[in-house]
Amino acid sequence: MEKIVINGGKRLAGKVFVGGAKNAASAIVPAAICASGVCVIENLPIVEDLGSFRDILTKLNVKCEMLNDRAMRIDASDVKNVPVVFDSVRKIRASYYTMGALLGRFGQAEVAMPGGCDFGERPIDLHIKGFQALGAKTETSGGVLKMKAEDGLKGASIYLDIPSVGATINIMLAAIRAEGQTTIENAAKEPHVVDIASFLNMLGANIKGAGTDIIRINGVDELKGAEYTIIPDQIEAGTYMIAAAATGGDVTVTNVIPKHMDSLSAKLNEMNCTIIEDDDSIRVIADKPLNAVNVKAMFYPGLPTDLQPQMAALLMTAHGTSIVTESVFDDRFRYVSELMRLNAKITVQGKAAHIQGPAELTGAEVTATDLRAGAALIIGGLCAKGKTAISNIAYIDRGYENVVGKLRELGADVERTG
Ligand code: UD1
Repeated sequence: MEKIVINGGKRLAGKVFVGGAKNAASAIVPAAICASGVCVIENLPIVEDLGSFRDILTKLNVKCEMLNDRAMRIDASDVKNVPVVFDSVRKIRASYYTMGALLGRFGQAEVAMPGGCDFGERPIDLHIKGFQALGAKTETSGGVLKMKAEDGLKGASIYLDIPSVGATINIMLAAIRAEGQTTIENAAKEPHVVDIASFLNMLGANIKGAGTDIIRINGVDELKGAEYTIIPDQIEAGTYMIAAAATGGDVTVTNVIPKHMDSLSAKLNEMNCTIIEDDDSIRVIADKPLNAVNVKAMFYPGLPTDLQPQMAALLMTAHGTSIVTESVFDDRFRYVSELMRLNAKITVQGKAAHIQGPAELTGAEVTATDLRAGAALIIGGLCAKGKTAISNIAYIDRGYENVVGKLRELGADVERTG
């Protein structure tokens, strides 16, 4: 079995380049289904999830061709609306975007329920309610969602109970072709929601307000092709910033949008790190003892839940007791039992983890329980004395490009084995 093996205790220093945003790419690539012309998507991350998307799109008769490592040409002019029930759908969460994209383009679709990381119940009821509001009749049986808008999709006013990223994007994908105006209230404001709206507008959609609580969409008849460059990955950038802080390092993270990192930069600053921002880079210098802080994972512009496990790993090295609260998902502390193998002092009470630092961390055999849990274990391993061997690294490969190579460039003693 492949493992990532780390000999901890090395200080990270140097520059690291951040790839394109996985969660934006995971919506923009299937969104290309909406276009009748050719799309060229650039700054794609080199991660496993995109392979699953290529597989899904190819089965829908969409031509996908890699122009280089980070650019894909997608031609959906002959897309076929076949049931999307392939194995790859169940491997990734974002496969649910084929629902909105196919429904928008054809007025009907059949898509298997998505897979992805397991951190508690992850329903898609808000997506389905959105499709229904746009006029689709829906039925779920055998793990497959069937949708049909007999009289075509019609614009509607939709209020989301929770500002769900997936529901906001999926409703946008369907509503861009609906007749009339759709409003999404209490919409998600994450950077990738804005990125997808910008991409769809390049195709000829009419979406206003992305990045605010209310998104207004005026339906259009046709969408053409376009060239589009995906934003940098906020979570990959954040992971390296946190790794720099955890190892007492001095790391410049390049190809980032510093504004997207505000919540994290403020927290690292509060912990006693120096943060220096430039137009598209952030330098994190951690040359002083770190303070314990309280952290709450929230919707944007709060600290992302996808950086919550990595923050918990960092706080094991800070002086005092920190409290990490999760407010987005029900069960996102499964990684804590793995960090405990490194000798962490963490207790979980409901949606809060109490972390006592600095812990005398020692290397151990650990298992990634999901993608960002894997990142937290890497950070733990970088700080621990001796050897940490992380298994289940397929999770990590789903969302981090060349993580071992990038960490080695920064001076970590890390390798893949097996
Ligand atoms: C996306 C990201 C994931 C990130 C999360 C929050 C992708 C592929 N995944 O996941 O990495 O952690 O946003 O930023 O982009 N909810 C419902 N009903 C729904 C939809 C969501 O109750 O129909 C709840 C969820 O259970 C969760 C909360 O809303 O508690 C937020 O979920 P959501 O923003 O939809 O996350 P995902 O799209 O699953």
